[in-house]
Amino acid sequence: MGSTSTTSSLVLEEATIEDVPAIRDIWFAAFTQPVIGELFPDSPAMRQWVLNDWHLNDFKTRPFQKYLRVVDTASRDEQGRPRLVAFGKWDLSMPQERGRRFPQWHPSSPYERCEELINGLEKERMRVMGDEKHYYLDTVGTHPDYQRRGAGSMLVQWGCDLADRDDVSAYVDASKEGAPLYQKHGFVDYSPPGSDVASMARRKKTA
Ligand SMILES: CC(C)(COP(=O)(O)OP(=O)(O)OC[C@H]1O[C@@H](n2cnc3c(N)ncnc32)[C@H](O)[C@@H]1OP(=O)(O)O)[C@@H](O)C(=O)NCCC(=O)NCCS
Repeated sequence: MGSTSTTSSLVLEEATIEDVPAIRDIWFAAFTQPVIGELFPDSPAMRQWVLNDWHLNDFKTRPFQKYLRVVDTASRDEQGRPRLVAFGKWDLSMPQERGRRFPQWHPSSPYERCEELINGLEKERMRVMGDEKHYYLDTVGTHPDYQRRGAGSMLVQWGCDLADRDDVSAYVDASKEGAPLYQKHGFVDYSPPGSDVASMARRKKTA
C-alpha cells in the first residue's frame, strides 16, 4: 500500500529497514507501563536486543510482518528526514505459520515471567480466534509528544482496511491505554472480567 496523505502533517507509510532504530526508540518512549519496565529493563544491552534480536531480525526474516511508520512532514530528525513519530506492526500470518513471537529473552529479562505472559496471550488469542483467519496487530506505539493526534488511528486503520479487502478478521491483545483506540475501529473485547490485557477481535464483515 502506498502512502496516505492526511489533513495534518502526519503521513502513514510502510517502514524501511533504516527506520528500525527509530522504531526501537519510539517503543521505549511509548511503552512506559511498569510491567514493560520489569520485563524489558531499559539498558544499552536491552536496547541492542530490541533493535537486533527482535525488530531487525523480524524485519529481515518475516516478510508477513508489516512494519508501518507515521512521520511528521513538518518536523525533521537529526539526519534531516521527516521525524518518525509512531509505528505499527501488523502480522498477516497465523500463529502456527509465524512460530514463536519473540526471540530468546535477553538475560536481564525475567525468563519465567516473560514466558508466562506471552504464553498467556497466545492462549487467549487461540481461545478467541481458534482457526479463524485473522491479521494480528502485534504492536502500535506513538511517541508521547504526538499522542492524541491521530497517528495510532492511521496505523490501526491500515490493517483494518487490509482485513476488509481480504475478508479476514483482526485481533489484538490490548493494553488499557490501547483499548479505546481499537474499540473505535470496531474491535470488541472478549476477555474475561478483570483481566489486565483485553483480548480484542474485529470479526470479518461476512462472518
Ligand atoms: C495507545 C496509543 C498507541 C494511541 O496512539 P495515538 O496516536 O495517541 O492514538 P490516536 O490519536 O489515533 O487516538 C485515536 C482515538 O483513540 C482513543 N484514544 C487514544 N489514546 C487514548 C487514551 N490514552 N485514552 C483514551 N482514549 C484514547 C481516542 O478515542 C482517540 O480519539 P480522540 O483523540 O479523537 O478522542 C498511544 O497512546 C501509545 O503509544 N500508548 C503507549 C503504548 C501502548 O500502550 N500501545 C498499545 C498497546 S496495545
